[in-house]
Amino acid sequence: MSHFALCRWKACSRPSLTFLFNGRLQLRVARFSSPATQAKVEVLGQQFPTDDFTNIKPAILRKVSAQLHLKHAHPLNTLRKLIESAYPDFTHAATISPLVTPFKNFDELSFPLDHPGRAKTDSYYVNRDMMLRTHTSAHEVEMFRKGETKWLLTADVYRRDEIDASHYPIFHQVEGAQIFTADAAGMREVEADNERLAGILASAHIAIEDTPHVSPANPVQPEHDPVFAELVAKNLKLSLNNLMLTLFGGVQGISKENPLRVRWIESYFPFTSPSFEVEVYFQDEWLEILGCGVVIQATLNTAGVPNKIGWAFGLGLERIAMVLFSIPDIRMFWSEDERFLSQFEDGKITSFKPYSKYPSCFKDVSFWVSQGNTLHENDICDLVRDVAGDLVEDVKRIDHFVHPKTQRTSLCYRIHYRSMDSSLSNEEVNVIQDQVISRLQEHFDVEIR
Ligand code: DAH
Repeated sequence: MSHFALCRWKACSRPSLTFLFNGRLQLRVARFSSPATQAKVEVLGQQFPTDDFTNIKPAILRKVSAQLHLKHAHPLNTLRKLIESAYPDFTHAATISPLVTPFKNFDELSFPLDHPGRAKTDSYYVNRDMMLRTHTSAHEVEMFRKGETKWLLTADVYRRDEIDASHYPIFHQVEGAQIFTADAAGMREVEADNERLAGILASAHIAIEDTPHVSPANPVQPEHDPVFAELVAKNLKLSLNNLMLTLFGGVQGISKENPLRVRWIESYFPFTSPSFEVEVYFQDEWLEILGCGVVIQATLNTAGVPNKIGWAFGLGLERIAMVLFSIPDIRMFWSEDERFLSQFEDGKITSFKPYSKYPSCFKDVSFWVSQGNTLHENDICDLVRDVAGDLVEDVKRIDHFVHPKTQRTSLCYRIHYRSMDSSLSNEEVNVIQDQVISRLQEHFDVEIR
């Protein structure tokens, strides 16, 4: 088949869908913006040349300037401020542009060249040299280079992914880091801080299931003094246990007899060692909260602070906000509906009270794909998102088989549509589904069954 990236935005005169403010659908004939055939794409007011890597779509472009984490009374803003309150003496950054070079997003952080995150199927590229950051870690070197030694950075991040109630191609992360001078005086500072943090935890209702701070499976970096690395990893853990208390310690039912349960799991990230994940027991299940570790020394060397040693963590805001505010669907964070927005007060965690849920409607699409077709599930999700916007609730593959004679693959996807603020008619959904089908045929060389 023709290469998807070359044709996915090719100029065509099909009708595209736009949505009126009252939530009703309106059909409008428009030309899709077309970086593959047009030479430029505009992102945040800047023009970029397109190339064979360009895969950023209008549905994403429309949202790059939203900055939900800065929107008054928005749950993501409240959660950001709550996290910042746990680090009062850190620098708090929250307005850094999502446009970064792949070098900054991956190479500066020691990602291997074959890391799957680099693939066009997983990330949004403006072109070969510019992308939307996939994580806030992309700014670590920049922050350290500026001389920041303790900082939090909140931002929107972008990943091509499946579509369901907990996945959305844009979400928000908080990155946090603290570095110390790698000498005896610096380590005295760490020890004093460890004592302070341990003191707070000692009188709190928290039960921590720990792992060794450093271990052969989760090694100290060869550049580090093992005693220093141990102290810094301990500081990381104490600091984040306290953050977990700030986030979850106030929820109903936490008491001396029923403490907040936090567990530490060894992990792997290209840019930390030792590395960990933190989980919190909440509403009868272990919830993954964050990744963290001792910063790879190469990062600090690149940033021009080779005499420092420190830790970093990164956490996703949506998943935490969904449980703290009882928000059932990740799309709701993007809702403009007053019935959603008016429920929240700036700086307060309150439970969202669902208003009537409009009925959902599903449509199946089945098609043949020839051998060698590189169609990826994320391509399908992006395509549906681009046609249906936030009316798409869920996309799942429900059938898959290979024809024994022709070796062609048959796929069937079930697409659930639901509006968050109005009832969709079958006719409206059919219009969307027809668009999805014709774009599938046109851009992916598939044969509809
Ligand atoms: N950037 C990682 C992600 O998006 C999360 C993360 C892991 C951030 C470990 C860190 C870290 O700073 O130390 O999955």
